Amino acid sequence: MEYSAKVMDHFMNPRNMGQIEDADGVGTVGNAKCGDIMKIYLDIDENGIVQDAKFKTFGCGAAVATSSMATELVKGKSVDEAMDVTNKAVMEALDGLPPVKVHCSCLAEEAIHAALWDYCEKNGRKIEGLKKPVNDIDELHG
Ligand code: FES
Repeated sequence: MEYSAKVMDHFMNPRNMGQIEDADGVGTVGNAKCGDIMKIYLDIDENGIVQDAKFKTFGCGAAVATSSMATELVKGKSVDEAMDVTNKAVMEALDGLPPVKVHCSCLAEEAIHAALWDYCEKNGRKIEGLKKPVNDIDELHG
């Protein structure tokens, strides 16, 4: 399996690893098949701009790399623009992923969506096109 230099860089030197205390949105998602879990924290200001993003990922190298890139891409965006950080956008930014690792980027998209969903619920907001992610496991893991 061949990984791009960017995937290796984000795997070896992940950006934004950690957590945000009292984050405005937190999303935890899991993939039942591989068992990997991804948690994303968003700090969102009163204008709906993502000021900071952090992640904790218990999973494969591609899951770490896609979490790292997804948090980088989402920073500075409005919550509506954050919807553009799709798994495709994350994969493109990483110069691609091997086919068996595409689902890892989907987990990153779902984790962002779960965090945005949490933010919307806490703040009575709606984001065009946002649905509650099916793999949201906040209920199970707190
Ligand atoms: Fe499942 Fe990477 S192998 S997220």
